[in-house]
Amino acid sequence: MITTVTKAIFPVAGLGTRFLPATKSIPKEIMTLVDRPLIQYAIDEAREAGITDFIFVTAKGKSALEDYFDRAPELEKKLRDSNKTALLEELKRSDMESGSIAYIRQREAKGLGHAVWCARRFIGDEPFAVLLPDDVISGQQGCLKQMIDAYRETGGNMVAAMQVPDSQTKNYGIIDKGAENGRLVSVKGMVEKPALGTAPSNLAVIGRYILRPEVMDALGKFQQGAGGEIQLTDAIADQIDQGRPVHGFRFEGTRFDCGSKAGFLQATVAFALERSDLREEFGVFLDSITHLHHAAE
Ligand code: UTP
Repeated sequence: MITTVTKAIFPVAGLGTRFLPATKSIPKEIMTLVDRPLIQYAIDEAREAGITDFIFVTAKGKSALEDYFDRAPELEKKLRDSNKTALLEELKRSDMESGSIAYIRQREAKGLGHAVWCARRFIGDEPFAVLLPDDVISGQQGCLKQMIDAYRETGGNMVAAMQVPDSQTKNYGIIDKGAENGRLVSVKGMVEKPALGTAPSNLAVIGRYILRPEVMDALGKFQQGAGGEIQLTDAIADQIDQGRPVHGFRFEGTRFDCGSKAGFLQATVAFALERSDLREEFGVFLDSITHLHHAAE
């Protein structure tokens, strides 16, 4: 069984309605946390984990995202001529090797599972990673790297898992837990967005996966799951029914839900405070605004 993972799918074809009107013309994945687009954080995490083939599932209206990965020779020349070395380095960090990116079109927003399935011909019979760029995870070591390290031992399928409060289980795919071993949890079942009070646990699946190619076959079989969309969760749950192992991995790090406005704002503040060039000025501003907010209450 192959346990080396070199291909990653980035489903970026969603409509991003929670960020309207901005997403009328700006793909959500290009929106910036401080000065880096969301997609750049996901790319950096994938590279750190050893991914060499980057497969984007895009859609109509996402051309700004495709343009982002083009080289910018005029800009580079200008920065070089004016000796702006640090900015030039920053620009080059976003360069992608020729031939390392593929774009696939999802012609209709039929859900995450359908978006992943659209990439099936690029996956063949290898295991692959899926990264949702709206889940931004900060930490000592990238979440996908931690998962791939664990996956070398376990094989099978793996999903990133995170504890959430009772009130929030209805917003996630939730794991029915089996045996636990350190950061690993054996997954007995998975339920997509369970009604309040019916969740099998508080362990939620978040947007990092390592999947076996059989998941593509399951996605191909599926009609419509919860909410009229083809759910990735259903295809993974189907693997369990087929007797194939699925592991939950409790990653180390902080996850921000940048698909929601509150999460995006929290990530912006957290990432700005991590930056040595912004920390002081921004920190003073935050203190003053928090003070004013408390005074008004
Ligand atoms: P979301 O559930 O966040 O949906 O998708 P969305 O369309 O991006 O945003 P809202 O809810 O309308 O605000 C989770 C991930 O799955 C991708 C999205 O691009 C995002 O990365 N996705 C979703 C697709 O690629 N295709 C789809 O049909 C649906």
